[in-house]
Amino acid sequence: MKNIAIVTGASSGLGREFVKLLLKEKSLDEIWAIAREEKKLQKFQKKFGEKVKIFAIDLSNLDSIIEFGKMVIRKKPNIRYLVNNAGYAKFCSYSDLTVRETINMVDVNCSAPIAMTLVSLPYMKKGSHILNISSQASFQPLPYLNVYSSTKAFLRNYTRALNVELKRKGVSATAVCPGWMSTRLYERAKIGAQKTVNNFSGMVSPDKVAKKALQDARSSKDMSVYGGYTKASHLAAKVLPQKIMMKLWKIQQRF
Ligand SMILES: NC(=O)c1ccc[n+]([C@@H]2O[C@H](COP(=O)([O-])OP(=O)(O)OC[C@H]3O[C@@H](n4cnc5c(N)ncnc54)[C@H](OP(=O)(O)O)[C@@H]3O)[C@@H](O)[C@H]2O)c1
Repeated sequence: MKNIAIVTGASSGLGREFVKLLLKEKSLDEIWAIAREEKKLQKFQKKFGEKVKIFAIDLSNLDSIIEFGKMVIRKKPNIRYLVNNAGYAKFCSYSDLTVRETINMVDVNCSAPIAMTLVSLPYMKKGSHILNISSQASFQPLPYLNVYSSTKAFLRNYTRALNVELKRKGVSATAVCPGWMSTRLYERAKIGAQKTVNNFSGMVSPDKVAKKALQDARSSKDMSVYGGYTKASHLAAKVLPQKIMMKLWKIQQRF
């Protein structure tokens, strides 16, 4: 039985940093890297070596996840880590996207991590870890990042409740809540909307977020928050009314 880690959205940004760190774990035989673009994944495998197995899957398609689940059943790996990292944002108002575009974001950011968790859990033993990448955007409602922040709040709640349910099994579930990170997320997020997010205060590099997230997962924490700016925003969202938090966001973004 092979010891493996599964990382979704592995070919870029934060996911790539998780793969780099997990490659250092000697107990892991393989890292299963998932993203949509096969060519990017092939380049990725060339760079990081044969220990990385690649799977070109569009996680917005539930049938594809169910097919992936059938392969998991056939191979019966010992899944030591599941990192549900794939996700994306759109910086715009509710009316700037079609219904299909809006629901796709919900599928990738919410439905896919749940489906991946459900197909993986039967193959996760005591001492294994699930990391779901939520966001600082989960701490409060964010006008003009409305759907994205809602998906991340959903994922954070799901993860923290799951962590409690999994205590008996000895598997941890950690909601990772990064602030702004220097990744390619912005290429897909900026669609030229009239009102758009343009203040990215407190930006950090994703390697630091990944390192802390793995440390926190190994300590069975149900949340991982990296950096002073994001921690302050978390605290503010706990003590201030959400209406005030939304006002502060609007001032910061000059909406
Ligand atoms: N960057 C930030 O400021 C920030 C802040 C907080 C939280 N986050 C969260 O961090 C996570 C990683 O984002 P990132 O910043 O590293 O962005 P990124 O550089 O754009 O990476 C996204 C990764 O997800 C994959 N992906 C996107 N859609 C997919 C789909 N439908 N099916 C399968 N794979 C898909 C992409 O590959 P393909 O395009 O080839 O599919 C890529 O590998 C996301 O969940 C994001 O919401 C980011």
